[in-house]
Amino acid sequence: MHKITIAIDGFSSTGKSTVAKRLATALGYVYVDSGAMYRAVTFYAMKNGFIAENHFNKQQLINHLDDINIDFKFNESLGFAEVYLNGQNIEKDIRTLDVSQFVSQVATVSEVREQLVLQQQNFGKNKGVVMDGRDIGTVVFPEAELKLFMTASAEKRAQRRYDELIERGDEVSFEAVLKNVQSRDHIDSTREDSPLTMADDAIKVDNSNLNLDEQFEFIYNLAIDKIAECN
Ligand code: DC
Repeated sequence: MHKITIAIDGFSSTGKSTVAKRLATALGYVYVDSGAMYRAVTFYAMKNGFIAENHFNKQQLINHLDDINIDFKFNESLGFAEVYLNGQNIEKDIRTLDVSQFVSQVATVSEVREQLVLQQQNFGKNKGVVMDGRDIGTVVFPEAELKLFMTASAEKRAQRRYDELIERGDEVSFEAVLKNVQSRDHIDSTREDSPLTMADDAIKVDNSNLNLDEQFEFIYNLAIDKIAECN
C-alpha cells in the first residue's frame, strides 16, 4: 500500500496534535509534532539565558544552533514519541506556559526555521507521516497529498489549554492563557518567514463544535479516501 504524507496546520491549541497522534496510530504512520521542535529550541534558549522576560539574544541562539540536537523516541506506554533535547527527555518541560510565552518569538528566527524544516523533511522522506504545525502544508511538505487546516474560536482553544494546564497541576489563570493564545495567533500569522496561512489545497476543519471523536472520524475518513485515491 502506497503511503501518503498528511500535513495538519492551524492555530495554536486547536487540538492538532491530539488528532494527528490518533490518526498516525490508526494508519500505522509516524507522527511528528513540529511545534515540539520549536519548543525544544525555546527551552534550550531559556536554559542558557538567551531568552527571558524583555530580553532575547537572537544572535547567541543562532551561534549555538549546532549544539542543539532534537530527537523523538517512541514511548510504548504512552503510545506516542516523546521529544528529547541532547539526549534528555524534555516532553514535560516544553509544555509550560513559560515556554509557550517565548516560543513564537523563537519561531520567527529564519535560521531556526531553516534548520528545523530540513530535519522535518528528513523525518518525512519515506512518507507515511502525519506532521502537525504551522507551515507543514505550505513550506515543509508543499506536495503533501492531504492537507488539513484546523481552526476554532480563541475562547474555545484557551479553555481547552487551560483545562489541560490545570489538570497537570499548573497554576494559571484563564485570562493569562487566553492572552497567550491571542498573542501567539498574532505573532504566528504576521511573522515574515513562513507565516501561518492556509495552503490553497488544504481542507479547513473548524472544530469549535466538534468533540474529539467526531473530529477524528471526519479526518480519518478524509485520510482513508485520499489513500485509496493514491493507490
Ligand atoms: O503547536 P505548538 O503550539 O506546540 O507550537 C509552538 C509554537 O511553535 C507556535 O506558537 C508556533 C511555532 N511553530 C511554527 O512556527 N511552525 C511549526 N511548524 C510549528 C510550530
